[in-house]
Amino acid sequence: MAPRISRLRPLLDQIQRTQRRAASQAASEVSAIRPENGTVIFSGIQPTGIPHLGNYLGALQNWKRLQNEAEPGTKLLYSIVDLHAITLPQQAPMLRQWKREMLAALLAVGLDPERSSIFYQSSVPGHSELMWILSCTASMGYLSRMTQWKSKLHLADDVSALDEKAKASLKLGLFSYPVLQAADILVHRATHVPVGEDQRQHLEFARECATNFNHTFGAGSRLLVPPETILSPAKRIMSLQTPTSKMSKSDTDPRSRILLTDSADEIRKKIMAAKTDSAANAVSYDRTGRPGVSNLLELWASFDAAGRSPEALAAGMAEGKGSLKDLKVQVADVLVEEIPPIGERYRAFLERDGGRYLDEVEARGAAVAIANAAETMEIVKRAVGLSN
Ligand code: TYM
Repeated sequence: MAPRISRLRPLLDQIQRTQRRAASQAASEVSAIRPENGTVIFSGIQPTGIPHLGNYLGALQNWKRLQNEAEPGTKLLYSIVDLHAITLPQQAPMLRQWKREMLAALLAVGLDPERSSIFYQSSVPGHSELMWILSCTASMGYLSRMTQWKSKLHLADDVSALDEKAKASLKLGLFSYPVLQAADILVHRATHVPVGEDQRQHLEFARECATNFNHTFGAGSRLLVPPETILSPAKRIMSLQTPTSKMSKSDTDPRSRILLTDSADEIRKKIMAAKTDSAANAVSYDRTGRPGVSNLLELWASFDAAGRSPEALAAGMAEGKGSLKDLKVQVADVLVEEIPPIGERYRAFLERDGGRYLDEVEARGAAVAIANAAETMEIVKRAVGLSN
């Protein structure tokens, strides 16, 4: 009996680890908080193009809500993560332009530099400095199980970092991307991180880095703060053309996403061309059975002034015998009201003061972030033995 159990031990351990991870994940996710004194909100977005509806509904809208509901004493830090962007090849002039455009887009969605510090990640040295220190305790095994580097390189989920196929294309920066993301969060002692669902695994890793560090260098005391994830109700907006995949900046089909700078005309065309299904011409909400129809209902629900759920909107459409085309017209109408004003503000911010306004906003945000990160780095360096 004993040898059999010992052979099963690795499997049992793995099941237990998965269960523990699921439990800690459930415990650490909150959908809504009212930020109060002592709360530190941090999040980031890559400057790899104009943000789309997925970024907006999955993250940016929540960034704005948290800012607007924050009580005095709450710190709000939002970073344009340019160091993450270069984990894949970028053209230097394009990257420079995208950084500015992202800054203008964040202001256009409603971030207010009087309340939120908005800054480029590369302006704050603490991010990369802490990343190096965390790299010295981060497990290669854990990192190689993470899925993002595999999906970015179009590799299968079961590929290992040492496989020939991976070794040929995998760069160290892309492999260690989650360590930099953990450093982004931990260097600011963030208590809450509003993100879309695709970032869940990275947030779990950041918590693991914090606990690991505290255990190794602080005898368990809270030197670094394990953050909580804040997910919005629209945590995963799907592509308009392949509704089983998430809406993404890197999708080669521009009709798959609605950009925050799209005109009313572009929005209508993209929504009317959205893939649904031929199961029925009636509207119903079923995320797995009818992903295209359900995605449209979720888009509508996200902007519904009456706060109706996708299920309630589907029931209303079914009652009025609305067709899939009627649904698309309805969704397009709602989006056309909400999105083009963001584009107008975006263009105005880009041009304000001949571009100097954006530089000032960033410089002010970076100054706050540099000071905040320096406080943590002092604690970290002392704990590790790098300073007295
Ligand atoms: P990025 O730039 O891919 O996306 C920015 C935010 O948008 C969310 N998002 C979505 N939400 C719902 N549906 C979608 N289709 C969708 N697509 C994107 C993302 O979840 C994210 O919240 N690794 C991060 C950037 C990052 C970061 C951080 C985030 C770097 N350091 C620290 C939080 C904390 C990324 O690539 O996001």
